Amino acid sequence: MAEHADRAAQTTHPAYPVGLRLAGRRVVVLGGGQVAQRRLPALIAAGADVLLVSPSATPSVEAMATSGEIRWERRRYQEGDLDGAWYVLVASSDPEANRAASAEAERARVWCVRSDDADAATAWTPATGRDEGVTVAVLTGRDPRRSAAVRDAIVEGLREGTLAAPQHRTRTPGVALVGGGPGDPDLITVRGRRLLAEADVVIADRLGPRDLLDELPPHVEVIDAAKIPYGRAMAQEAINEALIEHAMAGKAVVRLKGGDPFVFGRGMEEAQALARAGVPCTVVPGISSSISVPGAAGIPVTHRGVAHEFTVVSGHVTPDDDRSLVDWAALARLRGTLVLLMAVDKIGAIAEALVAHGKDPGTPVALVQEGTTAAQRRVDATLATVGERARAEQVRPPAVIVIGDVVAVAADTRVATAGAPRTAAGAVPAPADADPTGAAPGRG
Ligand SMILES: C[S@@+](CC[C@H](N)C(=O)[O-])C[C@H]1O[C@@H](n2cnc3c(N)ncnc32)[C@H](O)[C@@H]1O
Repeated sequence: MAEHADRAAQTTHPAYPVGLRLAGRRVVVLGGGQVAQRRLPALIAAGADVLLVSPSATPSVEAMATSGEIRWERRRYQEGDLDGAWYVLVASSDPEANRAASAEAERARVWCVRSDDADAATAWTPATGRDEGVTVAVLTGRDPRRSAAVRDAIVEGLREGTLAAPQHRTRTPGVALVGGGPGDPDLITVRGRRLLAEADVVIADRLGPRDLLDELPPHVEVIDAAKIPYGRAMAQEAINEALIEHAMAGKAVVRLKGGDPFVFGRGMEEAQALARAGVPCTVVPGISSSISVPGAAGIPVTHRGVAHEFTVVSGHVTPDDDRSLVDWAALARLRGTLVLLMAVDKIGAIAEALVAHGKDPGTPVALVQEGTTAAQRRVDATLATVGERARAEQVRPPAVIVIGDVVAVAADTRVATAGAPRTAAGAVPAPADADPTGAAPGRG
């Protein structure tokens, strides 16, 4: 009777939210299944001294025990297991053990979460998320999906800067070299997007997620790196100077680059110039077009049994150019995938060099222009035909060129890839302009 009265009282009152500081404190977890698998990482991150009591565990939970992140006693629950515990998670598949552990927790005044019976629990786990030192914890009582939805909305708003939350901390000082990904605004990292939302000045390249610039508040100064005055040869120096000047004026500066800053992105040159000037620099990696653009066109750069390596090569100079640092003869001997960037103009000469060094002229080639944007298009060819096809189809930069058998792997597979333009059915359009010679897919 008393228990029923207690339960009624518990359900009519809202839960009292609190942040537990569990570092070094004993937490007992009963059951090593999916619930434990989901909850353990946060307990480990909180520094808790976790004891898992369970006859079995999922492979992921077992790995946590093997790596020493938790202690695991492979047995059923027994009275006394909660000795010294501050908190207990009851999540076993044995109802009797769950009830007994819950009763022990009640007697010992240990807060107890129950995955099988929320009403019988003395504590509930909120839906949690984190952003920049802020922990968001949402409880809605009986509606975990709503809790998760509210949590997602808040965390996303904080990350994207769309939720106005005054910040009393200092912003990231200096310059952030942010890899913006291949072009689809959804393909920038969370950190990159947050730094963009905090910026006073953004110096952006032609490539990358240009759409994001529209979202910046009016006070943000957006500088088009391509339009910084000085001759072409001076351009990089001028960009470096602009970065330094704005950072030294106390502005939060983002250098927004396409793809990853360190993949043909001159990111290290900028980082070095900033270091010489004593300006702090944060590098935020990005999704490189070298992998993501083929992927968006349905081409995996590796595939089991087809390609065990991929090589990313700059094709901005022809193979016979004295400035070339590329060993084209060695590349021609590789069985794996070649991914060429900045190679649209020189693809004819590059294909000839590869064939001259022994590569099969029938090797499939795909050119993917403006990958991950609404203007994405794919042209298929072979090494023998690619120079002519690129001209005839008027392929223009930016394009990623993929050479190798992986090009043909997915020709008959419709895959939806994040960021790729989709058909109404949600699938990536099949290559519309397959080689009329019949050489692709497969070898001609
Ligand atoms: C100067 S490099 C910069 C690469 C960049 N840092 C990266 O990691 O993707 C520019 C080249 O990247 C490739 N590229 C970048 N974005 C692309 C896109 N959306 N579609 C096709 N190619 C792209 C093109 O080959 C282009 O000429």
